[in-house]
Amino acid sequence: CGAPACRAGAGAGGRDSHSDMSIYSRILGTGSFLPPKRLTNADLAAELAQQGVETSDEWIVERTGIRARHFAAPEVGSSDLATEAGRRALEAAGLTAADLDLIIVATSTPDMVFPSTATMVQHKLGAAGCPAFDVQAVCSGFIYALTVADSMIRAGSAKNALVIGAEVFSRILDFKDRTTCVLFGDGAGAVVIGASDQPGILATDIHADGKHRDILCVPGHVSGGNVLGDPVLKMDGQAVFKLAVGVLEETARASLAKANLTDADIDWLIPHQANIRIMQSTARKLKMSSDKVVVTVDQHGNTSAASIPLALDTAVRDGRIQRGQTLMLEGVGGGFTWGSVLLRY
Ligand code: UT7
Repeated sequence: CGAPACRAGAGAGGRDSHSDMSIYSRILGTGSFLPPKRLTNADLAAELAQQGVETSDEWIVERTGIRARHFAAPEVGSSDLATEAGRRALEAAGLTAADLDLIIVATSTPDMVFPSTATMVQHKLGAAGCPAFDVQAVCSGFIYALTVADSMIRAGSAKNALVIGAEVFSRILDFKDRTTCVLFGDGAGAVVIGASDQPGILATDIHADGKHRDILCVPGHVSGGNVLGDPVLKMDGQAVFKLAVGVLEETARASLAKANLTDADIDWLIPHQANIRIMQSTARKLKMSSDKVVVTVDQHGNTSAASIPLALDTAVRDGRIQRGQTLMLEGVGGGFTWGSVLLRY
């Protein structure tokens, strides 16, 4: 509960049930934005072929479930995508930027080294004064950011928070490496969460293990006015795959246990959209039928921190997700990081 002693007892990476809490956070509105340029697998394969890189729609669909992705124009940054997604989430919540007292952006592709993308979004939205900062947990970034915002709302230090996942992963891809460049896309998704006496977010669970930092990384960095190291994405796909399927089940079960719920209570699984095979495996382990899994990887590819809120907004807007339903959001990514948020929509 909210008392310091109880908070201390909630354990690392999460907390116990919220049933004895007086303040919850709940989703007031969702929004998302995709840059207009859409490339099908055939479009991308044709572009790659010009550089002597061979791939096919057949391979990409069979191994990943991806059919298309969006790429931002060169002058468009994560903050632009994030701002548009944020505006849409605010509109859905019936709030304006002036109502916000917290902005968190999860991104691994910030506009600049600093300042944070969140401060740029704040300015573009026409807000000022409230805290705004980025969270860096790669594909788990939105889960981490939502966990932080929920904690701040429950602690009473924020009332209305805008939480965004936004990426321009096309900027950090090596288009000579077919094992990675066909997998990712650009986009942004957002939620506005607000303080409520009704749940809301029921449980959160976040983790990291830095010993796996090398299996998914962009090793380059800026130093002395130069980029040192390789500033493009490197991934050991099979190692990531194996770790992902294990930890996604674990974190889902951890959140369910904290909220005293079971697999059967989940109405919708909204996983990080990296690979349809990973999502299907998690659904099987949670004994969920595949039609209860929100899938956007086919149309968006892997948009890293943006993928979960993009999928959430898609299923809210097409009417699949209804108020009162129980949603399991979960993600895994570089770091290695992973986590889940269980909530009543
Ligand atoms: O967002 C963070 C989390 N990320 C993930 O969850 C990604 C997890 N990993 C994966 O999704 C999969 O491991 C991949 C989709 C990345 C790769 O699938 P895979 O089934 O593990 O394929 P593989 O790496 O074992 O490659 C199989 C074959 C290889 O050829 P050989 O050596 O068997 O002759 C690759 O060279 O497929 C080849 N290949 C391709 N062929 C055509 C790899 N990429 C491509 C490609 N087009 N784009």
